[in-house]
Amino acid sequence: MANVAVIGAQWGDEGKGKVVDWLASRAEIVVRFQGGHNAGHTLVVGDQTYKLSLLPSGVVRGKLGIIGNGVVLDPQALLDEIAKVTAQGLKVSPENLKIAENVPLILPLHPALDKAREAARGGDKIGTTGRGIGPAYEDKVGRRSIRLCDLAEPETLSKKLDELLLHHNSLLRGLGATPFEKQPLLDALLALAPQLLPYGEAVWERLDAARAEGKRVLFEGAQAVMLDVDHGTYPYVTSSNTVAGNAAAGAGVGPDSIGLVLGIAKAYATRVGSGPFPSELHDEIGRRLGERGHEFGTVTGRPRRCGWFDAAMVRQAVKIGGVNGLVLTKIDVLDGLPELKICTGYRLDGAVVKHLPAAMRAQSRCEPIFETMEGWSGSCKGARSYAQLPAQAVKYVRRIEELVEAPVMMLSTSPDRDDTIALRDPFAG
Ligand code: GDP
Ligand code: IMO
Ligand code: MG
Repeated sequence: MANVAVIGAQWGDEGKGKVVDWLASRAEIVVRFQGGHNAGHTLVVGDQTYKLSLLPSGVVRGKLGIIGNGVVLDPQALLDEIAKVTAQGLKVSPENLKIAENVPLILPLHPALDKAREAARGGDKIGTTGRGIGPAYEDKVGRRSIRLCDLAEPETLSKKLDELLLHHNSLLRGLGATPFEKQPLLDALLALAPQLLPYGEAVWERLDAARAEGKRVLFEGAQAVMLDVDHGTYPYVTSSNTVAGNAAAGAGVGPDSIGLVLGIAKAYATRVGSGPFPSELHDEIGRRLGERGHEFGTVTGRPRRCGWFDAAMVRQAVKIGGVNGLVLTKIDVLDGLPELKICTGYRLDGAVVKHLPAAMRAQSRCEPIFETMEGWSGSCKGARSYAQLPAQAVKYVRRIEELVEAPVMMLSTSPDRDDTIALRDPFAG
């Protein structure tokens, strides 16, 4: 089956939304398989800008969207997002959006715990989005989650809320935060039920049928490999597996359904929140990248930290994430820089290491080893073919391919949907 999975190869915000929107024209179904409304995906189509957090980016193309069981779903956030995009002229209904009936829900107590924990960490915050993502995944693994299907069973819901509140209120009280009362939570969930339940179904059945009919499915990742709960810069990570392997478990399909894996990477690097970032720039160039790239978080509005392209880290993400090809985005942001640097490895205690070590202190002590390349005087902005790129920009792309050990299959040269260069059709396998 010619399916494609899109994952982030750095620390998020690589332009996955734009790439998924572009690829969605060739797909029939777009599936989100992990994360929640911590994600923020910006799509620019002509003079319209869509900011999506939970809705699969294919909705803008009118494609069938599926929210898989691997997502943690805040029902109110979903309804708000549907209202927002509806006001922009899109149509979202149970006709074109399906939600796994076994998806765990984010309730108001999850962001409350997320924020109380962050506050308790003082100066050592993770820098979460405060959306309750971590606590919601903890409840799933702890077998306490309220799932979409529970909204159809008021008695189950009531019993599960007791168990959930016993757990959460103990923690909230311990952290000096306000505990939650059961009745308002139960009432709110029962009030939301009629709006949400029509979206719920066994999406695995639909995906199985799609497979039998040879339909093209696009798996849309959120966050990125370096934020993966196992493989990222732990504990400064999100709480889900962001690698392509999780597309199978998070959607309810077999591993052979995932198809080609595209890793999305910016032509430089950014990170929101705390944690190691060896190639980070604290100078004028870093500020310039931030300004030119409009590097502010879509979800929280926080300025993103900026740095040089870290090829050692992206190579690591390519290997761990099962990436078959890269999409290099935002190369236009590098236009006009006289000199570019690429991080090729790290110096740690006098030794050279080729990848980020797992231990937290070792990670924070990694010093980047850079190689320098000449910049270009022409412009990549808006280029729609390889031939339109300055020769030096092509050299930069080639060098990245060598260092990360993966081919660049697509390039993005502006936020606009159409300013995209496809060197290969990913659906062709
Ligand atoms: P995502 O979370 O991976 O979907 O990425 P975001 O949407 O959070 O952040 C990427 C930002 O860069 C968005 O504002 C996009 O509109 C913008 N963008 C995407 N591709 C390009 C590009 O090639 N050039 C420029 N200048 N901006 C881009
Ligand atoms: P997209 O899909 C960038 C970061 C947060 C924080 C860490 C944990 O738009 O690329 P969480 O709220 O998930 O518990 O926060 O992960 N983070 C992201 N950074 N892009 C994202 O999503 C992110 N989602 C979470 O900033 O450092
Ligand atoms: Mg984003």
